Amino acid sequence: MKYFTVSENIREAENVNTLEFYDDIRIIPGQFIMAWVPGINQIPLSFSSTGSPKSITVKVYGDASAKIAGMKTGDRIFYEGPYGNGFNNITGKKLVIGAGSGIAPLVPLVNESTTGIISGKTASDIILTSKFNPDRLIIATDDGTAGIKGFATEAMREIDIESFDMIYACGPEIMLKAVFDYIKGRDVKCQFSLERSMKCGIGICDSCSINGYQVCHDGPVFTSEQLTKMDEFGKTKLTYSGKRVFF
Ligand SMILES: Cc1cc2nc3c(=O)[nH]c(=O)nc-3n(C[C@H](O)[C@H](O)[C@H](O)COP(=O)(O)OP(=O)(O)OC[C@H]3O[C@@H](n4cnc5c(N)ncnc54)[C@H](O)[C@@H]3O)c2cc1C
Ligand code: FES
Repeated sequence: MKYFTVSENIREAENVNTLEFYDDIRIIPGQFIMAWVPGINQIPLSFSSTGSPKSITVKVYGDASAKIAGMKTGDRIFYEGPYGNGFNNITGKKLVIGAGSGIAPLVPLVNESTTGIISGKTASDIILTSKFNPDRLIIATDDGTAGIKGFATEAMREIDIESFDMIYACGPEIMLKAVFDYIKGRDVKCQFSLERSMKCGIGICDSCSINGYQVCHDGPVFTSEQLTKMDEFGKTKLTYSGKRVFF
């Protein structure tokens, strides 16, 4: 199995760490790895930097993410991949919208002129702000402890979204659906990275399926044209045990 050797562990917030490493592997922003944590699980993680050093940014939810987030310099992150299609990174005017740790895979798309919206439940969920031009960054929190009080869609009302050549978004599916509904009928192109429950990461188990697409294999990045045809988007998903539930 392949591995990265951690060169630095940077604490981004309580329960969020960025692990840097040097490796020649070629990665398209938006692609992910299945990181294997021996004795626990393998979990999908995206790249928060695809340059040098490369990095992953991990929010702690359970045992596997906690183990990775706590790794030290010299520790090895075992993985398979990279998998998935990744974003089409355009040269024009970009808006990136990320919620919680969903901002991580969008960071490699950011340059000086990129506008960013970072949203979260509360101030401590807002991470990676230093990667953005502060004059082009809008923050939104559900409880108003940082930036605008409200969801990412509140922040979208502050800007002319049709002035962008591409909108990129990543975060919980319920947030992506709200962004998608806001954009619907407007003249703007979008790419969304979906986070569904993943077991194999290579198109075998079907745990990540949505309307016949497998997020690990056909995504995780989908265009708004594709999402328009998916009536499960933002409505139902499979749990890790295979049960279909409503969001
Ligand atoms: C394509 C893809 C890319 C991803 N990239 C990243 C990334 O770059 N950084 C990152 O931090 N995470 C990312 N994730 C999410 C990450 O895979 C999960 O957080 C991880 O699988 C959690 O595993 P665990 O064993 O630590 O927690 P588990 O034991 O699986 O979960 C513990 C509890 O937290 C809940 N939970 C788990 N994950 C999430 C979540 N994402 N949102 C809300 N609740 C959750 C579970 O339902 C459960 O109740 C990505 C997911 C996908 C599909
Ligand atoms: S995670 Fe198994 S098919 Fe996608």
